[in-house]
Amino acid sequence: MDLTFVSTNVGKFREVRGILSEYDVRVRWSRRQLPEVQAGRLESVVEAKLDAAHHLGSRILVEDSGLFIPALGGFPGVYSAYVFDTIGLAGVLRLVEGQSRRARFRAVAGLSIGPRRWLMPGECPGRIAHRPRGTHGFGFDPIFIADGETRTFGELDPAEKNRRSHRARAIRRVGRLLRTVG
Ligand code: IMP
Repeated sequence: MDLTFVSTNVGKFREVRGILSEYDVRVRWSRRQLPEVQAGRLESVVEAKLDAAHHLGSRILVEDSGLFIPALGGFPGVYSAYVFDTIGLAGVLRLVEGQSRRARFRAVAGLSIGPRRWLMPGECPGRIAHRPRGTHGFGFDPIFIADGETRTFGELDPAEKNRRSHRARAIRRVGRLLRTVG
C-alpha cells in the first residue's frame, strides 16, 4: 500500500517511513509547507493540515508535534518549531534552569483515506538534559531524555528512537489502523 506523507521535515519523513515499512506501507514524501494555524492544540493544527493536503492524494498522512514542559506551562508546545528556530536548544536550557526538568514529547498523526479521517496521538514522557548530547535525529533530540533512558534521543540510533518516541507511538497506531481499513 502507498501513502503520501506531507511535511517539510526530512527527519520526520525518515522516521515515518521506517516505522510504516514494518506494516508493508510504502511512504511517498510530498515535501511542502502546509499552513500552521495559530492554535493551542496539536489536534487543531493537524485538522487544518488535513484540510490543506486533502487534494494531494487519496491516502494522506500529516503530523504535528512538540515538546511540552509542565514547569513552563507546557511551553514550547505547539510553538516548538518556532522556538527551535529562534532561541534554540540553548534558549530552552536557560528557561528550565532552576525549574523541574520534566518534559514530554507529543505527536498527533492525521490520516485521511478519501473522505474518512482519523487523528492518532502518541506521547513520550521524559526530562530535559543539562547539556546537548548526540548528533542523531533533529530538533530537540539532543536535550531530551526519555523515561527509563540515560541517553538523549540525539544519542540513540534511529531504530532505538523509533522503539519509544511519541511519533513512533502515533505512527504505529496508523500502521495498525491501515491493516484493518486497507
Ligand atoms: P511541527 O510539527 O512541524 O510544528 O514541528 C514540531 C517541532 O517540534 C519540530 O520542529 C521540533 O523542533 C520539535 N519536535 C517534534 N518532534 C520532535 C522529535 O522527535 N525530536 C526533536 N524535536 C521534535
